[in-house]
Amino acid sequence: MQRSLAFFACSTLLALAACGGGKSASPDGSGGAGGSAPPYETDDDLPLPPVAGLAPTPPMGWNSWNKFSCNITGAFVEAVADGMVSSGMKDAGFEFINIDDCWSQATRAADGTLQPDTVHFPPSTTGGNDGIQIVADYVHSKGLKLGIYGDRGTETCGHRAGSQGYEMQDAMTWASWGVDYLKYDNCAATLDAQTQYQTMRDALTATDRDFVFSICAWSFYEWASVIGNLQRTTTDITNTWDSIVSNLQTNKLVTAYGGPNHWNDPDMLEVGNSDFGAGPVTDLENQSHFSLWAIVDAPLIAGNDLRDGHMADATKATLTNTEVIALNQDALGLPGYEVRESGDQSVWAKPLDANGARGVVLFNAGAAPADITVGFAEIGLSLGPATVRDLLGHADLGTFTDSYTATAVPSHGTATLKILGGEPARPRGAGAYLSDLTPTYAANGLGPVERDTNNGASDAGDGGPIKLRGQAFSKGLGMSAPSAVIFRLGKVCTSFSATVGVDDAAGGAGSVVFQVWADDNKLFDSGTVTGMSAAMPVMVDLTGLRRLKLVVTNAGDGSALDRADWADAKVDCAP
Ligand code: GLA
Repeated sequence: MQRSLAFFACSTLLALAACGGGKSASPDGSGGAGGSAPPYETDDDLPLPPVAGLAPTPPMGWNSWNKFSCNITGAFVEAVADGMVSSGMKDAGFEFINIDDCWSQATRAADGTLQPDTVHFPPSTTGGNDGIQIVADYVHSKGLKLGIYGDRGTETCGHRAGSQGYEMQDAMTWASWGVDYLKYDNCAATLDAQTQYQTMRDALTATDRDFVFSICAWSFYEWASVIGNLQRTTTDITNTWDSIVSNLQTNKLVTAYGGPNHWNDPDMLEVGNSDFGAGPVTDLENQSHFSLWAIVDAPLIAGNDLRDGHMADATKATLTNTEVIALNQDALGLPGYEVRESGDQSVWAKPLDANGARGVVLFNAGAAPADITVGFAEIGLSLGPATVRDLLGHADLGTFTDSYTATAVPSHGTATLKILGGEPARPRGAGAYLSDLTPTYAANGLGPVERDTNNGASDAGDGGPIKLRGQAFSKGLGMSAPSAVIFRLGKVCTSFSATVGVDDAAGGAGSVVFQVWADDNKLFDSGTVTGMSAAMPVMVDLTGLRRLKLVVTNAGDGSALDRADWADAKVDCAP
């Protein structure tokens, strides 16, 4: 969906000044992003109510693995908790102190109970408390929460006891210690993964504590997004720039599966693991890593040394940037998606829970500085004026018309922005084709969602004609699973209709599920549709509803050739 950007405003992040004729009045007349948001036009535009649950926004915390692997002790973890408080990270929203592998022994007690490694996590000398419980009490006394690590197989990756066959007993043990979060790994496992993760979810639920459940199955599975509060989408991250970018790219393919209480997890942060010259990732790259994890709604789980005197100022500034964190923790819970990739430069965006507000990251993965433009229409805003705020420099950049250009974004750098403009015009009249409207959200499994063609491949505008079992359609949306696209209705529409199916371009392969949601209620579910299924008509009543969301899932079997067409997709609305 390559849109032409008629007017490119010209600015520089460094000079904080606009050049050329792009500047105009701000939409609310306040003159800048620091002013109040444009007034809501009607109650149709009010934010949706916050979501309940254990992880309504992506979990934030720290985990021992990335930097310290098995070199951990109870005293060390407590010092990290102190550092989370003294560094300002707790105030910035970080909450969990998570002990990863190697806290336990390889063997269980005679009664089957998991035993802490008593050398590194010694029990209380005055009796009673176990090594982990002592740490839990300490962490709780700091107003923080404790996470622990387990494994669905017979042993952990570090060769400690796994939970296979002991799920209920282990959940009870962790609950008795006061644990609040479980990361559950995938080593030494031969039994069905979904069954074993479900067994542990059920065991955790049966205890008297609330556990955030982090599924670490090293790859995305559709079932994991149902069972877990976060699901790993990638293999293990390492402290290299290539690994960070590679995990981002893998994670983006399943953007549409992320959301409140089931966040996509491209693995824990490596921010600060090169502090004091100890590694290959620069401060600028760490800042980009954090911005990108924030905008895609990844869990923000730091993996560096938080202890006093062990964190460089640049790292602390990145991890406590509350304006960037606010993108991640936004109550709307829509994971940012890659809007467009142009060579080494890319545009990422997410709608925020306020009228006309978008989080935006302009990412330069190239070797040389580059100008990067974001068109307001391509991030689901109306054309016209919008204010732009630089969340890394904590500065309002001004008001721009139709688009904004960040100049000379450094190699491996980002411009991390909040843009406040106008929501797009609502659909009007009978038979308004969605492909003629501006979606406010468009996450897609393969490049951008296409208008009036099938999805093609990963480039914008590379689709062919929409064709379902030999019948061609001139209008419609071409998607690829998993996909989620949102249009505002403003309560003025009465119905949605389309003909759905897997495009003929898939050659009979592919299998997807089409769903129509409005205002968080599912109004239509196609069941599994394959490349051989007949085209299916869809008609849904939208009376009085605010937001239409078209979802395509991969039907649980991966996304190969899942070219999903919403042919003739249109809404009937008031004039
Ligand atoms: C796996 C996980 C890592 C870490 C290690 C611990 O590799 O993916 O995140 O937990 O195990 O052994």
